Amino acid sequence: MKYGTASLGHVVLFCFDFHKMKDFYTEVLGFHLSDSGQARGNDICFMTLDPARDHHMLALASGRTGSREDRVINHISFRVPSLADLRMRHELLKKAGVKDLETITHGSWLSVYYRDIENNRLEFFCDTPWYVQQPVVKPLDLSMSDDEIMRVTVEDFGKNPEFKPMTEWKSETTKSFSS
Ligand SMILES: [Fe+2]
Repeated sequence: MKYGTASLGHVVLFCFDFHKMKDFYTEVLGFHLSDSGQARGNDICFMTLDPARDHHMLALASGRTGSREDRVINHISFRVPSLADLRMRHELLKKAGVKDLETITHGSWLSVYYRDIENNRLEFFCDTPWYVQQPVVKPLDLSMSDDEIMRVTVEDFGKNPEFKPMTEWKSETTKSFSS
């Protein structure tokens, strides 16, 4: 292995309104607040959606500057364990009235996109069993059953010459990454 593996650790977002953002992430999205305090003159809080795994996956810091329209981060994404969880998230976000809520299939992932109260784009997604060459962006109809969604995924992307089980893509890519 040339470099060794690593995993994405966390994202720290600067906020215009630290307290309102903290409330949004804990109350609307259900993050556990692991710690909160001050460091280097900024408020900062640490939060997680999986305390068994990570003390924090996201942190919020006060002190954002510039225009609200400035675009730095395209989006921040959180994996959920199943399509049932994705459906549940979609319902909760709809009830909360979040902005720009949309459901998308990327073939390899099924996604729900939305925005937080400071216009940052966020995503919940669940994996499908397949590798589909990216980028692929198509509307996802969540009114279909789980079985229908899986059938349509194979129908839509199965003719792609690169289409294969994600387990195959991972083992092939791990080999070339390690050599
Ligand atoms: Fe994404």
